[in-house]
Amino acid sequence: MIDLKSIPADKEDLDRYEVENNFQSWSYQPAQSPPRVVSAKGVRFTTEDGRERLDFSSCFVSHSIGHQDERVVQAICDQAKTLTSFAPSMSNKPRALLTRMLAEVTPGDLERSFISLGGAEANEAAVKICHQYTGRRKIVTRYRSYHGATATAMTLSAGDSRNWAQVQGGAETVKVPQPYCYRCSFGLTYPNCDMRCVKYIEEVIELEGGSDLVGGIICEPVVGANGIIVPPPEYFPMLREICDRWDVLMIADEVMTGFGRTGAWFAMDHWNVVPDIMTFAKGMTCGYLPLGATIVRKHIGDRFKDTFFSHGCTYAGHALGCATALSLIPLYQTDNLIEKSAELGKYLLERGLELKDKHPCVGDVRGLGLFVGLELVKNKKTKEPLTAVDAKIRKGANPKMEIAKKLGEMGMMAMAANPVNVIAMAPPLIITKDEIDEGIEIMDKALDVGDKYAE
Ligand SMILES: Cc1ncc(COP(=O)(O)O)c(C=O)c1O
Repeated sequence: MIDLKSIPADKEDLDRYEVENNFQSWSYQPAQSPPRVVSAKGVRFTTEDGRERLDFSSCFVSHSIGHQDERVVQAICDQAKTLTSFAPSMSNKPRALLTRMLAEVTPGDLERSFISLGGAEANEAAVKICHQYTGRRKIVTRYRSYHGATATAMTLSAGDSRNWAQVQGGAETVKVPQPYCYRCSFGLTYPNCDMRCVKYIEEVIELEGGSDLVGGIICEPVVGANGIIVPPPEYFPMLREICDRWDVLMIADEVMTGFGRTGAWFAMDHWNVVPDIMTFAKGMTCGYLPLGATIVRKHIGDRFKDTFFSHGCTYAGHALGCATALSLIPLYQTDNLIEKSAELGKYLLERGLELKDKHPCVGDVRGLGLFVGLELVKNKKTKEPLTAVDAKIRKGANPKMEIAKKLGEMGMMAMAANPVNVIAMAPPLIITKDEIDEGIEIMDKALDVGDKYAE
C-alpha cells in the first residue's frame, strides 16, 4: 500500500481516479473526468481551469442561499469546535432547537420531526410513519415523480426511467397521472376539465380498498426532476378533501420545493393546504451539510407516545448538520429570500416565455417562483417531445444533452441532467435581475442547438 498521506494528486491523477475509482451518479461511467470545481461563491463557481461559471440550477436545486455564505460557514466552524455529533439517543442543542424551528416555519400543526441526512431518507421515514400510523401498506404515487434513490423512494418514483433498474422497495404502490395540463392524460383542457385528474385519484383510492388498504398518497407539490409540473390551484385543496374523506395521509415531498424555491416557504402554502406529513432536505441546509427531515402533524406524532417508533439511524439529528440548518433557515427571513423568489420568479418566467416565442424547440414554459422549466419539442403543434422518456438511460444521441453541453461550454449550469424533456432553471434565490438576464442570454444561444432538431 502507498503512503496514504501522500496519494499522488496531480491533475492527471485526479482525472484518473474520477474515471477508474468513482461511481458517477445516474450515468454510464464516463471516459473522461467531468470538470473539477475548486471553489464557489454566491451564484458562481470556478473550475480547475480557472473559469468562472454561472450556477443556474443551485446544484440540483439545493444551494438556495448561494455558495459559501460566510455566516453559515462560521456557524459550522463554531459548532464543529464543540460537538460534531453524538449518539442520537442523547439530546443535543442544535437538534432540539431545529425541531422547534421546523414546527414554526411549516404550516398548520406539523410539529414533530425526524431529522435524517437527505431527501430519500426523509421519504423513507415518511412511508414508514404512514404505514406504522395507518397500518396500511398501499401508497398512491404519481407518474413522472422522483422521490429519491433508496429502494422504497425509488419505488415511489413512478415513470422516471431511472426507476426501471431498481429492486422493489418496502411499499406497495398504485400509480396515478400528474396534473400535467400541457399533456393532460385525460385529453382535457384546463379549466374546462372538471379537474378529472384529481377526481380520478378518489376513484383509484376507492377501487384499491379505500380506508382499509390505502395508507397515503405522496406528491411533489410542484414536480421537479420530472418536468416542473405546476398543478392548477384547485388541485391540492381538492386532494386534501379526498384524503380526509378516505382517511388517507397526504405526504408532501417538499425536498425540492421547500424553503422558498417556489416563492413561499413551502409550495403547499400557495394553496393553504396542510399535509399530514411533509419531507424536505435541500434548501434546509443548502448543501453546506447533508440533512433531511420528515415532519408530521401533532396527532400523528402523539400516536408514537404509545406506539413504538420503528425507525432510526446513527446520524439522526446530527449536531453539525442541525447547527447548519439553524444558522441558515433564519436567512430566508432576514434576507427576504422568499419574497425575492416570488418576485424574481415572475421575471424569470417572463424571460422564459420570450425563449418560447423565439425557439421552435421550446413547446412550453411553466414555473412557480425561481423554479422554471422549458419543455422541449420537435414540433410545437403536435407537441412531439424532443427526447423520449427513456433517453436518460439509453446510450446515443440526446438533443437535450447537446443543449446542456453547449450551456457548459458557455459557462453555465442549468438542470438538464434530469430524466425528462425539460431543462429547469432554478438559480440561487440571491440572484439579481442582471444575472437572470445573463443566464437567459446563455440559454438563448444554447437552445439554437435544440432548434436544429425541431421543425
Ligand atoms: C422531490 C425530491 N424528493 C426526493 C429527492 C431525493 O433527495 P436526495 O437526493 O437528497 O436523497 C429529490 C432529489 O432530487 C427530489 O427532487
